[in-house]
Amino acid sequence: MKSHSPASKPSFPESCTSLLSKHLTDAVWSALAEKKTAAGFTLEQAIRSGVEQVDSGVGVYAGDAESYDLFAPLLAPIIKEYHGSAGPHPATDFSCDALPEVSPEAASRVISTRIRVGRNLANFPLGAAISRVQRLDVEKQISEALSNLPPPMQGQYQSLSTMSAEQNESLIARHLLFKNEDRFMASGNLMRDWPEGRGLFLSEDESFSAWVNEEDQLRIIALKQGGDVRGVFALLAEAVTALSAQLTFDFSEQLGYLASCPTNLGTSMRASVHMSLPVLGQNEKVLKRHAEALGLQVRGQHGEHSVSEGAVYDISNRMRLGVTEVAAVSHLIHGINRLAELDE
Ligand code: ADP
Ligand code: ARG
Repeated sequence: MKSHSPASKPSFPESCTSLLSKHLTDAVWSALAEKKTAAGFTLEQAIRSGVEQVDSGVGVYAGDAESYDLFAPLLAPIIKEYHGSAGPHPATDFSCDALPEVSPEAASRVISTRIRVGRNLANFPLGAAISRVQRLDVEKQISEALSNLPPPMQGQYQSLSTMSAEQNESLIARHLLFKNEDRFMASGNLMRDWPEGRGLFLSEDESFSAWVNEEDQLRIIALKQGGDVRGVFALLAEAVTALSAQLTFDFSEQLGYLASCPTNLGTSMRASVHMSLPVLGQNEKVLKRHAEALGLQVRGQHGEHSVSEGAVYDISNRMRLGVTEVAAVSHLIHGINRLAELDE
């Protein structure tokens, strides 16, 4: 659909290394600048975050499922470069038995293990394009599904709007809740009407949680102290199965589970350990080089864009598309076993 007159192609400072700045060529801009999805989402909206936040790693958010088709000349190369695959995505596989063992050296360094997947409801726009009313509808449908979960996932949903500041801070500090500010998401129009429609579901023992209407409409999360990766993966699998029986998620054969950010396509899974790496941590550049070579990502102890404290790092799988869930977690286990060896 053609309808608006776009401004000229944005420019990026020389220091900018985002995938957007690399793949938004003149040819791609001219082919896509006037396009709009049926829901009215434009290229300018998709790239706004990376244009405003020039230190973005990626720089784009999709507004709806159609964005991934319509803006494919820009998004497909970004997806391919990030994941090493642009699909097709294999069938879901949460089989725990096939996981390798965490080595004793790695296990002694792991403080906690968290595995999450992102999901979005079919027939709704994604966070960058959703309306306030649609977001509230999503919150209602998801919180209802969460309230039907059996033990061990049984628990309570709480809207962010009804939380006290102290409760909110404490949940964030305990790694259970998302932060209230993300300038990348804000520039991408994902923080509209905050905190309305957002919330947290927490199981009684707090090992299962779900984030509602943050970057994705649903983040399904299993988190436990220690390095029982298999146990965390099994709990996540149980929760994903129970929620998938009640909700229909956006999915494509090519890109797997659809997500706001191209980095979260496919399995939409980030499996991470908080791991103490006192030797490698003496030089973070070296640690990051090793991790990158192993297909792993290093984050700080308080998540994305945070810094590490006391040589404890968040180590996770980088690729989420074109691999199964069990393959991605196996990859993480092999990787942390290797990092532990290197840290000896
Ligand atoms: P996401 O995992 O959803 O992409 P973040 O990187 O922001 O988002 O992490 C979300 C929260 O989960 C943060 O508070 C982070 O510290 C916490 N977290 C991530 N991995 C672990 C882990 N292995 N153990 C404990 N907390 C974790
Ligand atoms: N948009 C941000 C960037 O390009 C974050 C990308 C990955 N993280 C995420 N939470 N989706 O740097």
